[in-house]
Amino acid sequence: MHLPEAIPKAELHLHIEGTLEPELAFALAARNGVELPYADTEELRRAYLFSDLQSFLDLYYELMAVLHTADDFADLADAYLARAAAQGVRHAEIFFDPQAHTARGVPIGTVIEGLGRALDRSEERHGVSTQLIMCFLRDRSAESAMETLNAAEPYLHRIAGVGLDSAEVGHPPSKFAEVYAAAGALGLRKVAHAGEEGPPAYIREALDVLGVERIDHGLRAMEDPELVERLVRERVPLTLCPLSNVRLRAIDVLEDHPLKAMMEAGLLVTVNSDDPAYFGGYVGDTFHAVHEALGLDPEQLRELARNSFLASFLDHDEERRAR
Ligand code: ADE
Ligand code: ZN
Repeated sequence: MHLPEAIPKAELHLHIEGTLEPELAFALAARNGVELPYADTEELRRAYLFSDLQSFLDLYYELMAVLHTADDFADLADAYLARAAAQGVRHAEIFFDPQAHTARGVPIGTVIEGLGRALDRSEERHGVSTQLIMCFLRDRSAESAMETLNAAEPYLHRIAGVGLDSAEVGHPPSKFAEVYAAAGALGLRKVAHAGEEGPPAYIREALDVLGVERIDHGLRAMEDPELVERLVRERVPLTLCPLSNVRLRAIDVLEDHPLKAMMEAGLLVTVNSDDPAYFGGYVGDTFHAVHEALGLDPEQLRELARNSFLASFLDHDEERRAR
């Protein structure tokens, strides 16, 4: 059998800003004259002790201060794609958070142009096909999300779909019904984070009100057997991120993760890295870790890899070529 790391796979839940490694953060800080409140990479790494999603998001948004130019975004994405390729990734559907940059005065065009530059050469340079998913920050207003969609209009040829991320509890999917309807009318695909820290009801809302085709995380679906039955029946993919769940304390230890139980319940689950620079591993490392901690057998690892292509935005022919 291939090593779990080496199995060809797609990554469907990856925040490009969450791939900012401490070394690159300091290099970009120096390049842009940004002072970071950490003496060095070691001190920064020691700050990666999170108690929940919000404690992580605080650092995640803080470190973005080093990202300014299109070159910065291109370097960030290129570094991710190189690491992903080395871990068996053949296709990546990549989230980005435009509001986290426009709020700091970085134009959305700079972000998309920079990411696009790295993505355009990814197949040739890394053997990884790519798509971009623009996320709305759910702890900001619905109006701000709509302004972001409008600002992205000149760049829609570069964007495959929209997503919803950031602090979940208290910000239900229904808050974004209007902007998701507008995105759908523009022909964009739709996904949303739901059931990471929020209740199963948010997963239902993401499906019924936003019309998403995949749920990002969906971890808490397991609390609601009727919902699990529906997700199985409708073949709704869940993009799980086991290392993230442990680091953000949704799960105590990896051995307690319900991934295997979710597979055995018939759910279409995939395994992803979320914010690998912060959570201790890229997607190949994640396959390796769940193999060890949960005793997944080789066929289950192959099923996870197969699911990742099935749940992707690739059509049938593209999917076959990517595997
Ligand atoms: N933004 C980056 N990572 C996230 C996560 N795990 N949940 C919600 N928003 C995020
Ligand atoms: Zn995420």
